[in-house]
Amino acid sequence: MARIDPHSYTDPSQGTIAKLRWQLAVDFPLSRLRGVAELELAEPGSGPLDLDTRELLIDSVTVDGAPVAWKLHAPEKGQEFMGARLCVERPRNTQTIRVEYRTTPSASALQWLAPENTAGGEHPYLFSQCQPIHARSMVPIQDSPKVRFSFDAAVDVADPLVAVLAAAPGEREAGETGRAVFRFEMPQPIPAYLLALAVGNIDQKDLGPRTRVYAEPETLEAAAWEFADVEKMLEAAEQLFGPYLWDRFDFIVMPPAFPYGGMENPRLTFLTPTLIAGDRSLVNVLAHELAHSWTGNLVTNATMNDFWLNEGFTVWAERRILEALEGEDAVALAAAIGRHGLDGEIERFGADSPLTHLQTDLAGIDPDEVYSVVPYEKGFLFVAALEKAVGRSDFDAFLRAYLERFKFTSITTEEFLAFLEEQRPGLAEGVGAERWIHGPGIPDNAPSWRSPRLEELEALAAGFSEGQRPEVAQAKSWSAEDWQIYLQRLPRRLSADDCRWLDESFAFGESGNAEIRSQWYIIAAASAYEPAYAGIRAFLGNVGRMKYLKPLYKALSEGESTTTLARDIFAASKGGYHPIARGVLETMLG
Ligand code: BES
Ligand code: ZN
Repeated sequence: MARIDPHSYTDPSQGTIAKLRWQLAVDFPLSRLRGVAELELAEPGSGPLDLDTRELLIDSVTVDGAPVAWKLHAPEKGQEFMGARLCVERPRNTQTIRVEYRTTPSASALQWLAPENTAGGEHPYLFSQCQPIHARSMVPIQDSPKVRFSFDAAVDVADPLVAVLAAAPGEREAGETGRAVFRFEMPQPIPAYLLALAVGNIDQKDLGPRTRVYAEPETLEAAAWEFADVEKMLEAAEQLFGPYLWDRFDFIVMPPAFPYGGMENPRLTFLTPTLIAGDRSLVNVLAHELAHSWTGNLVTNATMNDFWLNEGFTVWAERRILEALEGEDAVALAAAIGRHGLDGEIERFGADSPLTHLQTDLAGIDPDEVYSVVPYEKGFLFVAALEKAVGRSDFDAFLRAYLERFKFTSITTEEFLAFLEEQRPGLAEGVGAERWIHGPGIPDNAPSWRSPRLEELEALAAGFSEGQRPEVAQAKSWSAEDWQIYLQRLPRRLSADDCRWLDESFAFGESGNAEIRSQWYIIAAASAYEPAYAGIRAFLGNVGRMKYLKPLYKALSEGESTTTLARDIFAASKGGYHPIARGVLETMLG
């Protein structure tokens, strides 16, 4: 047995999947997918083949129409998040295995929404979130990023619902009475975590020659306005990182239960509706997901231990796009917001926690439980340190060579370092890469960004306890980034009078920008500021993005008078949360 990924039963010595032919029938009344997965391996072969599954019901496994022996192993004790190993016995010279299966209502990748949890309120909605290891709960597969396959798919749904997949859309055909079949094709090879599906009352609007937004009709126009600059972003990204190799860059705005800000599903990024601020102030998340088209989807982390290769490079790339579109000062503020979040996270983990290393050892650990900003913001700082050491134009050349060398493959941190050494001998040593990658915390040579504006805001926040206040009329014209910087840096616990002053002066609870609302509610929760409780309850009841749920529940659960409120709100709201979010919050709230 030769496993290559602590989070997968994949054993490449048994063969690897090269193509998936996938059929799905979506059954809303039963919250169930009925599926057929034809798995075509790269080469014909024989003997056992281990597949990842999680909570799947296997109906049959056949080769050329004939049943073959298979066994679904029980999940391992303490490792339930890995799911159940499906071992199929391949007869001699077998290349394609056909598995018929059903999903279960609690499939960890899937969220089945009742109509009342959608924008329209009339039709149900289904979406998936497969990263890091949930694809196995909707298809039996080798669920390791090291394995890449192309696929085609047919999704059968009840009228008038629309199915979209992260793939090139094909024909819509009439199905059985009252149903339709949507066809898709993904010619580029992808890892399983980039499979993605959404079904609902979904409309679409073209934004440019290669870009289109999908959303429920009720949110479509607002979404189209918010992200109108996407084609410009795509052009800027191509200037920086080379040709876009996925043909189209479309995206879909999900219902509020979506547990992330965005997910870089190729050809169809998924976005939280909380990005629709009304002033385009949160479009950096779209830039981030777009940047993954190079860093992440072309060059992919081999396992979750190398997750920083995906996210660190992508935050760096996101900020290069930001710089191209908005200038250096915007990057200084973004980097400062990121650095503040990173410092807080490191403090929570503990200064010498191995979870603050760039490369991690997550064997036996559920990656969802340890998701943090460390691979993002420490990764960003490391990439920026490399860039700074050789200079921009040389680093850009290195990046192009890196993407060219590893496109459509998945690599480990060691492979990255070997390539770095080959291309720029001595650079790793020069920036202390060893400490960055295998050491805790932030090395001293971390670059930092200063700007006069940043300094002003920091000084103003630092003086809050001594009575310094922003001038109200003036502060009303602050940018969303200004407010994020300022609110991040205020003390967590304020007096009721100070809370009231902020609330009455600036009405953060009514801000269209969810980052600002969330920052304010964290302060209000930690300060046990009762007038904000109704707003906090509504926010936690409407939003599924874990970036907002986790710190706010944490702030509530740490205060003496607010713990019961936290439990109470969670009990009332958890039905609307994605299974991943529910799991993480249950662990946190005990
Ligand atoms: N790929 C991630 C989301 C993700 C990571 C989902 C790991 C599941 C497991 C996505 O690209 C991301 O990083 N989203 C961020 C955006 C932000 C950094 C701009 C988010 O959701 O907050
Ligand atoms: Zn990302």
